[in-house]
Amino acid sequence: MATSGLASAAVSERRGRLRSTRHLGRELRLWARRRLVDELHDRWDGLGVTASVHAGTRRAARFAAFGDGSLLCFPWTALYNEGAIRIGTGTMIGPFVSLSAGMIPGQALLSDDVVRIGDRCLIGRGSSIVGHFSIDIGDDVYTGPNVYITDQNHGLDDLAMPIGRQWPAPERAVRIGAGSWLGTGAVVLPGVSIGRGVAVGAGSIVTADLPDFAIAVGAPARVVRYRGGGAPPQGRDGPTAAS
Ligand SMILES: CC(C)(COP(=O)(O)OP(=O)(O)OC[C@H]1O[C@@H](n2cnc3c(N)ncnc32)[C@H](O)[C@@H]1OP(=O)(O)O)[C@@H](O)C(=O)NCCC(=O)NCCS
Repeated sequence: MATSGLASAAVSERRGRLRSTRHLGRELRLWARRRLVDELHDRWDGLGVTASVHAGTRRAARFAAFGDGSLLCFPWTALYNEGAIRIGTGTMIGPFVSLSAGMIPGQALLSDDVVRIGDRCLIGRGSSIVGHFSIDIGDDVYTGPNVYITDQNHGLDDLAMPIGRQWPAPERAVRIGAGSWLGTGAVVLPGVSIGRGVAVGAGSIVTADLPDFAIAVGAPARVVRYRGGGAPPQGRDGPTAAS
């Protein structure tokens, strides 16, 4: 009886040791996993800037110009035909941006400078700047996230052909004047000329020219007033031309 009591005490002690060894193993695995996750988070946070395209990198050399102090953050979604894209100095292009001249890599293009982004601009994350002919973004232009700027539509004339396969529709140059600001989700359509210092509201669709210092909102974007206090234009058609 005494012997079997000792044996069962030994068994339960061994079980206890096993349990605490397992516990320790589990704790160690959890600790190692947390460290790995922390490491991944740190690296992910750092990647946006450290893996960005900047002057002196091979990717930057592919651009028609990539100014000093400019950054195109990692990761991007689509980035091609950089030879027709010019970026000024001190400009920051956020992550998850699509920036392209044409729709496919290697495409023959209509001009040497399809997309131009000036100095000290900030292009918000997730935005798309998709040029085919001419998109000219002046100095000090800021955009919120998920802005879309394009200078081309698909063709609509051939009823027998899917619209997506009809192109090119005539490309129409887009210009955004220095010091302007596009709110998040704004869309700028082909042929539009936005003046200097214009504010475009979040989610607005710019279908027609906007004059200097206008504040324009809605779909289609209409001038609601002017920075500095000017009244909005009369009539439902809004402004007629950018100055
Ligand atoms: C355009 C904007 C700057 C105007 O701000 P504001 O000068 O304070 O303008 P108000 O709020 O006085 O609005 C003026 C009118 O425009 C309307 N309006 C304002 N923003 C609008 C928008 N984005 N879309 C549609 N209508 C809008 C208002 O409802 C108001 O209409 P009402 O006169 O019939 O009531 C602001 O509304 C906006 O859209 N900001 C974008 C914010 C953003 O994207 N931030 C991201 C950080 S980069």
